[in-house]
Amino acid sequence: MSEKNSILLKNGRLLDPGAGREGRYDILVEEGRIKKVASEISSPGVATLDVADCWVMPGAIDLHVHLREPGFEYKETILSGARAAVAGGFTSIACMANTSPVNDNSSVTRFILEQALAAPARVLPVAAISREMRGETLVEMGDLVEAGAVAFSDDGKTVPNSKLLRHALEYASLFGRPLLCHCQDNALFADGVVHEGLVSAAHGLRGIPCLAEEIDIARTIMLAEYLGVPVHICHLSTRGGVELVRAAKLRGVRVSAEVTPHHLFLDERAVADLSYSEDLDQRYRPAQLVYNTNTKMSPPLRSAADVEAVRQGLADGTIDAVATDHAPHEATEKAVEYDLAPFGVIGLETALSLVLHLVDEGLLSPLQMVERLSLNPAHILNLDDRGTLEPGMAADITVIDPDAEWVVDPEKFYSRARNTPFAGWRLKGRVVKTLVSGRVVFPFDG
Ligand code: DOR
Ligand code: ZN
Ligand code: ZN
Repeated sequence: MSEKNSILLKNGRLLDPGAGREGRYDILVEEGRIKKVASEISSPGVATLDVADCWVMPGAIDLHVHLREPGFEYKETILSGARAAVAGGFTSIACMANTSPVNDNSSVTRFILEQALAAPARVLPVAAISREMRGETLVEMGDLVEAGAVAFSDDGKTVPNSKLLRHALEYASLFGRPLLCHCQDNALFADGVVHEGLVSAAHGLRGIPCLAEEIDIARTIMLAEYLGVPVHICHLSTRGGVELVRAAKLRGVRVSAEVTPHHLFLDERAVADLSYSEDLDQRYRPAQLVYNTNTKMSPPLRSAADVEAVRQGLADGTIDAVATDHAPHEATEKAVEYDLAPFGVIGLETALSLVLHLVDEGLLSPLQMVERLSLNPAHILNLDDRGTLEPGMAADITVIDPDAEWVVDPEKFYSRARNTPFAGWRLKGRVVKTLVSGRVVFPFDG
């Protein structure tokens, strides 16, 4: 007879930077929590999972996803997004507030948490900073924290009013909740659709300069520095942004930052399919489109030099975390002229394999990979029972086959959406099991 949520994982290669462990360990889970980690454990009566030849890590935590419920369930629901998450190895996902209605009051936060009860991943609601994300009036932060908001963000938009942003930073820090900042200067961003550079010039698409992002990152860092409070910068995409964060950290500013897989693997040339198609299976070529609208997101894909800079930033720890900015849109919404397509691409089901690619390339060590995907995100969100597999912590565990090769086929995604820029990519390394609270939540039953 096996106890509820008790399981013994045997023979895996544990990657747990938080506990300083890397190597072959057995892991005993009891009642949803880590009970014991040792080189050899036997526990008669407890179900055993042999994970030989697999990598075992604390469950990946995504700081930045868009589940479209309430309001846009045709794009994604909390359930479909959470299924995509665990299929991609994410056990906790922080969901942004730009739903309809906006998550700017405790009844929406409670609704999300109620829907999440049926979801296989832990869903962590991020509340808006301002009412209806209009940048005018601060939300009732205390109410939202009480209802379960883990962080605050007007993601999708910046908070243009620096006084409001100042007060948001002050209150959020009193409540011990981070502010996750989408940085863009609206006037400079204007009606741009791609990075201002090679492709905007050659193809006549309106450009978004790096400066639009960097000016706002500078402002955000200055406010946090002045107030002595923490702040988190979303989806860093430019070399200048990396330099601003690096310099701020050196000065002791409490700033953290994330980068998305798409900004690590794609540059502006992907917009016009200029260099990414040679290797791809013909089946996945977007034959009917000149521009691939699944390369349109905010911030946009930048220059090759920017990609190199965010990679270096991730490697040297300037950038703390990889977060997907999973932004589902329905196929017909993206099947339009580039100008008209909505910003956003999905990422939950490809992120982990792409980060494994960085390990293969030697950019990150396996332990650094786990830091960027689990330990650091747990710290940023103050999740003190996650990010490592020390005894007593939640048994949220991701098991990876590092050698499994696969081709990205959007039709096979658990997400309701298909808008990935990585269709047809051959990737190595795949999630084989995901556990939340000691329960195997992926693969799905039946
Ligand atoms: O590309 C993006 N999509 N960037 C954002 O900031 C918002 C997001 C969305 O909600 O679709
Ligand atoms: Zn954003
Ligand atoms: Zn976002």
